[in-house]
Amino acid sequence: MGHPVLSQRAEEVADPTAPEVSRLVAAMIETMEDADGTGLAAPQVHMPWRIVVYKVVAARIDAGVEAEAGDSGDEVAASREVPTTAMINPVVEPLGEETSVDFEACLSVPGMAGPVRRSDRVRLTYQTLEGDTVDREAEGFHARVLQHECDHLDGILYPMRIEDMSQFGFVDELNKGRDGPESQDSEDQIEVSDAAPDEETSD
Ligand code: NI
Repeated sequence: MGHPVLSQRAEEVADPTAPEVSRLVAAMIETMEDADGTGLAAPQVHMPWRIVVYKVVAARIDAGVEAEAGDSGDEVAASREVPTTAMINPVVEPLGEETSVDFEACLSVPGMAGPVRRSDRVRLTYQTLEGDTVDREAEGFHARVLQHECDHLDGILYPMRIEDMSQFGFVDELNKGRDGPESQDSEDQIEVSDAAPDEETSD
């Protein structure tokens, strides 16, 4: 599927502070912004390195599901936003047994979407462009984005993880199927983005 680099294991970056790493990250962020995407992994721009850029905006966080007692959904969503972040040599590990299925899409699989099971909570470690190590946890949509993007570093595209292939298809066709009288709401419409179906384009 796609360029050969997409199906290879990407290599560790020996020096996250090297100027060429900064240059690649800047180009990746520009590509992600141009595509109105949520994330981008270096293999998607045909560079075989373990580098991911991503961001999580409040509108993409399902605060209704994630809200905690006493906080409004909007406050929870705002508190869980992630600014544009560059990760060098990221490692994502599941925390706990809980998983959820949701639709994903990807710039490297244009026009398509399908349901993928992901861990609800993950532990994330990576190095910054300054060479510092970050160690944090993530959940919900944030955790899904991280799992989707880090899969790219191991040559895995989301269709390889779909359990119910009858739900994998062209976004336009999937949305037609959702056009019944009971789902006039535009929120039922799948749109394409990287790692999740709420924006216009992909990762
Ligand atoms: Ni992708």
